[in-house]
Amino acid sequence: MTASPSPRRLAPAPALDVERIRADFPILRLKVGGKPLVYLDNAASSQMPQQVIDRLLRYQTSQHANIHRAVHMLSEIATAEYEEARRKIARFVNAREDREVIFTSGTTEAINLVMHGYGRKFLGAGDEIILTTLEHHSNIVPWQMLCEEKGARIRVVPINDAGELLIDEYEKLFNERTKFVGVMQVSNALGTVNPVKSMIAFAHARGVPVLIDGAQAAPHMNIDVQDLDCDFYALSGHKLCGPTGIGILYGKAALLERMQPFKGGGDMILSVSFEKTVYNTVPQKFEAGTPPIAAAIGLGAAIDYLSEIGMGAIAAHENALLDYATAQLERMPGVCIIGTAADKAAVLSFALQGVHPHDAGTLLNQEGVAVRTGHHCAQPVMQRFRIPATSRASFAFYNSMAEVDALVAGIRTVQKVFA
Ligand code: ALA
Repeated sequence: MTASPSPRRLAPAPALDVERIRADFPILRLKVGGKPLVYLDNAASSQMPQQVIDRLLRYQTSQHANIHRAVHMLSEIATAEYEEARRKIARFVNAREDREVIFTSGTTEAINLVMHGYGRKFLGAGDEIILTTLEHHSNIVPWQMLCEEKGARIRVVPINDAGELLIDEYEKLFNERTKFVGVMQVSNALGTVNPVKSMIAFAHARGVPVLIDGAQAAPHMNIDVQDLDCDFYALSGHKLCGPTGIGILYGKAALLERMQPFKGGGDMILSVSFEKTVYNTVPQKFEAGTPPIAAAIGLGAAIDYLSEIGMGAIAAHENALLDYATAQLERMPGVCIIGTAADKAAVLSFALQGVHPHDAGTLLNQEGVAVRTGHHCAQPVMQRFRIPATSRASFAFYNSMAEVDALVAGIRTVQKVFA
């Protein structure tokens, strides 16, 4: 099985009116040291359009109360809006049922929820968990904690020099002890798009459930959890033009029903006595305490905003940005692109000969260009390429070709300083 070009690259999509879209994002008008901000750190966090900011303001000024707890008007409005946000996200990822969407603080908490709720209940000594070299620390460390507690073991899918998973090696890792697979759909460090649908099918043929870390995929392509047939899917709101502190875990209802709660407290119970507590049904079973109500409603507004533009059009524009930037950096002496997979999304990691990435990031900032430099919370990827860090430009649909030119000009300036 080899990675084939994803259909999203082949689908024609209407061109985006980037200037009109940029007008929705007040932060993009900022200047950095007198130069226009060129924000290319979208994989770390995207920016928020006025429509989402306005929605948060409307909620706080006229709709806020605690949810699921009272019969007064504000509580009923807040509850309805919170549950409507759940419905919007369920539709966005094409979940079968709204209750399959659990609000979390983000992807990290969603993965920790699966580790505690599923892993601690169903995995034991000698069981094996398959992860990949590409994983973000948030899809490694929780499983290491589980292994420490239970005596389970992690097996790791290697990558090639382009940053693509070696699928033959993935398949060879399966045996009768394999009990769980965790894999990211898009690599935050390299941009590789992994063939998760066929990986899921392979695991399911052996009765093994699969968690997809969708933090870097959901902002860039259409997500259909039924088509993928994943058991769990995690994403973060702040990478989707929504607020920080909100994300979701999608889980198949039948699995969520069988899992144990992650956190205990109010709202996740039906009844409590010192003799016996009865847990609430899904999804409340996993949403203890007062949730981030405003953030969930803000995420709903962000989903509305993205859906109106259309994920097909977003993917097409971002792929054009990536192709344009890649073609330019490939031609530049002293620039080495890290991660050259055939199928990539929105991320361009690079190293500049003789320049530490942190110095490159600092000098680029002086040109107004914001990139992330470091290990990107993916140290095993850095270890694989034997580098301490990369500089990473990551694109969103509101970035323009002129901003790619600014990145290229910024890199030339860095190179001149270090020449
Ligand atoms: N995981 C985020 C990134 O890649 C923070 O930058």
